[in-house]
Amino acid sequence: MKRREFTSFVGVGVGMSILPTALTACDAQTKNKATAEIATSGGSFEEVGSVSELEQTGQILNEELANGAALVIKDPINADKLIAVNPTCPHAGCAVTWESDQQKFLCPCHDSEFSSSGEVLEAPATEPLTRYEVKVEGDSILVKTT
Ligand code: FES
Repeated sequence: MKRREFTSFVGVGVGMSILPTALTACDAQTKNKATAEIATSGGSFEEVGSVSELEQTGQILNEELANGAALVIKDPINADKLIAVNPTCPHAGCAVTWESDQQKFLCPCHDSEFSSSGEVLEAPATEPLTRYEVKVEGDSILVKTT
């Protein structure tokens, strides 16, 4: 084997031997980045109450969350689902209440009405209620306000 062929042969061998290590390092960096993005964009859930409490009262209002308040109801269209909104009326900031007999959120200040999904049904409010992601773990109801 000539010197030039030998050098080329060794160079290819070295390249092939470090390729798996390089690919593994790239893969690990990709996984770490994905995990970090999930952690930073995922926000956090806070407990607002229990399923048994919701069964008894029909709604749960928790005003002590890190980013405000949450009002949780059972979805009147699908009782297996929950709906969580920020009860602060977008018109002027009063707290809306859930009126289960009318299946609406009502604002006591200027009579705005909102559907169970938070959409405006009656002015003067022009913006919907803010919705929160909600989930159940065991007997706990958790909402994500961030
Ligand atoms: S504050 Fe709710 S309608 Fe005005």
